[in-house]
Amino acid sequence: MARVCWGITGSGDHIEETLDAMITLQKETDARVDVIVSKAAEQVLRWYKIWDRLIEAFSKVKKETNANVPFVAGPLQLGRYDILIVAPLTANSTAKIAYGIADTLVTNAVAQTLKGNTPVLLFPVDQVPGEIDTVAHDGTSFSIKTRQIDLENAQRVREMLGVTIAASPQNLLELAMALL
Ligand SMILES: Cc1cc2nc3c(=O)[nH]c(=O)nc-3n(C[C@H](O)[C@H](O)[C@H](O)COP(=O)(O)O)c2cc1C
Repeated sequence: MARVCWGITGSGDHIEETLDAMITLQKETDARVDVIVSKAAEQVLRWYKIWDRLIEAFSKVKKETNANVPFVAGPLQLGRYDILIVAPLTANSTAKIAYGIADTLVTNAVAQTLKGNTPVLLFPVDQVPGEIDTVAHDGTSFSIKTRQIDLENAQRVREMLGVTIAASPQNLLELAMALL
């Protein structure tokens, strides 16, 4: 059975479609998916009222205390997982990964995994220039402009050895299936 570590960061953008995609991945591949959530991700999942859906769908959901607790970097570095997926990936965590910062649970997981041979699949939400439409936690639609700095950081991460970038939640599902 394939083992997947799925990191979630605090992005409202694409959070719901990503959850749907990961539930589909678990069903279709029969993979065991262990979930790690950043502090901000827990807040956002609760704001969007999908925290309970996450807990019901996945048997192991670990919340961030700090970069090393819960200790997932170790098993990731030792190759105990077949893949590390981080989706959605905030502009904040994209910037940290781009510059080698590993001071949170999810960015530390990425940094340590990339020192081994386990593939890392990321879905940075801010990767397309211009305005994008998104949905607030209360269902209100609004549009946001992607910042140049976030585009540059996403590009920097795209060029890292061992990293694959997904363009959308649907693409994430396809890429994860191909990598498993
Ligand atoms: C409701 C809500 C929605 C958010 N949506 C986004 C988002 O779509 N993209 C983003 O980059 N940050 C978003 N943020 C801000 C991040 O949560 C914040 O930058 C946080 O520091 C990210 O931490 P993390 O990368 O460790 O999860 C949102 C915050 C809240 C409260």
